[in-house]
Amino acid sequence: ETSHEVSYTITAQEGEAQLLPGEKTKTWGYNADILGRTIILNDGQDVHITLKNNLPELTTFHWHGLNVSGPIIDGGCHAPVYPGKANKIDFTLHQEAATTWLHPHPCPSTAEQVWHGLAAAVIVKDKHEASLHLPRNYGVDDIPVVLQDRRFHDHNQFDYRADYDPDGVQGPTALINGTVNPYFDVTSQRLRLRLLDGANRREWRLHFSDDLKFTQIAGDGGLLPDAVDLTHLMLTCAERAEVVVDFSGYHAGDEVVLYSDDTPIVHFRIHDFNADPEPLPTHLLDIKPPVVDPATPIRKVVMSGMDESVMLDGKKFNMQRIDAEQPVGQAQYWDVTNTNDMTGGMVHPFHIHGTQFLIISRNGHASYPNEHGYKDTVGVNPGETVRILVRFDLPGVYMYHCHIIEHEDGGMMAQIESY
Ligand code: C2O
Ligand code: CU
Ligand code: CU
Repeated sequence: ETSHEVSYTITAQEGEAQLLPGEKTKTWGYNADILGRTIILNDGQDVHITLKNNLPELTTFHWHGLNVSGPIIDGGCHAPVYPGKANKIDFTLHQEAATTWLHPHPCPSTAEQVWHGLAAAVIVKDKHEASLHLPRNYGVDDIPVVLQDRRFHDHNQFDYRADYDPDGVQGPTALINGTVNPYFDVTSQRLRLRLLDGANRREWRLHFSDDLKFTQIAGDGGLLPDAVDLTHLMLTCAERAEVVVDFSGYHAGDEVVLYSDDTPIVHFRIHDFNADPEPLPTHLLDIKPPVVDPATPIRKVVMSGMDESVMLDGKKFNMQRIDAEQPVGQAQYWDVTNTNDMTGGMVHPFHIHGTQFLIISRNGHASYPNEHGYKDTVGVNPGETVRILVRFDLPGVYMYHCHIIEHEDGGMMAQIESY
C-alpha cells in the first residue's frame, strides 16, 4: 500500500464550521473548514507538497517534528507564502514512525493563525512499527485527538484580539478535533489515541472515568523503548503521546469519558467488539543514545520571564541573527533552564525544529519513564533545568523556542545553524 512517491496540495483557506448550535463560526483550515485531514507519510518516501495560501494574509507551513532540512522546507518564518501564492517543497523522509503535525509559523502571528483553526496531524509510518502488534487501522482503532480550547463570542465567533493574553490565549470550551463535545464509537477492544496538545497555551491533565488504566506507547518522535502503564498523563503545548486504551472491562452500551482535570472532553461509546487475546508488546524500540565527545561543552539555554518580558538567553528573537551553531552529526547536551519562580511561574514547553532529542535528566534526577523516547518538545517546569541530548542529522537553520505560542510570538525564540 505504500508508494515510493507522494504528492499533496495543501491549501490554507477560510471556512465556516458548525461548532455550536446556531450561527457557524468563521474559521481557517487546511483543505478544510477547520484543522485538516490527517496526512500519512511513510519512512523512505519522496514527498512533494504544494503549499497554497488562500488566506487574506501571509502564512507559512511548518512541519513540527518532521525531519526535514532547514527553515525553507520546514516552514519556519523564513518561508512565507503570500496571499494567493503557492510554494513547492520536496524532501525524502527518513524518520521513525511518529505522530507529528503541521501548523503555521509566521512570526509574530503564529498564535492568531493557529487560533483561527490552522493545524493538522501528520503521521509517519515505518516497517518496524508495522511489525508490532498495535492498533493501526486509521479511523477505526487508531485516531488522532487534537486537543484545543476556545472562547466563543457573540454570534459564536472567535475573537483572538479580545481574548489576547501575552502569556497565552485560552478559552473555557474544549475543542477536540475541531469539535465541541465530541464522541467516538468504539468498535474494537483496543483503541490507539494519538494525542496532540494543539492549544496555544493550555496544559492537559488527562485521565479516564473509573481511573481506567491506559498504556503509553509513543511520545513526540516515535515509540517509547518500553510501554508505560498510566492512569494520568500531562501534555504541554505541542507535545504528543500515543496511548492504547483497552476496553475489555466494558460492554456494549457503556460509556468511558476522557477528562482533562474535571472537564469531560471526549465520550467513548462502547459497541460490540471482538476480543483480541494477543497482548500488546512491552518492548517497543531499541534506542541507542548517540555518544557525546567529552570535549563537547554543554550548551546552556535559558528561558526567562512571563508576559511581554519573555526572553530566550536574555534576548528577543531576531530572524536575521543566528544565535548558535552545532556541527551536523555531533551530539551535544543542552541544559535548558526555566528561571521562573517555582511558586506561580509558568511551565515553558521547549521545542527544537529539525531534530528529535532524548531527555537525560530533570534537575539532575532521572526523567520520567514515559519520556524515554525521542522528543521534540519538553515541558520545563519553573525553577527546573532539563538536560537533553541533541543532534542534527541534516544541515540547516533551525528555530528553538517556547511553544506557548504567544511566548514564541513574543520573542522567546532563537535559531541555531547546523553545518
Ligand atoms: Cu511547533 Cu517552531 O513550532
Ligand atoms: Cu517545530
Ligand atoms: Cu513560555
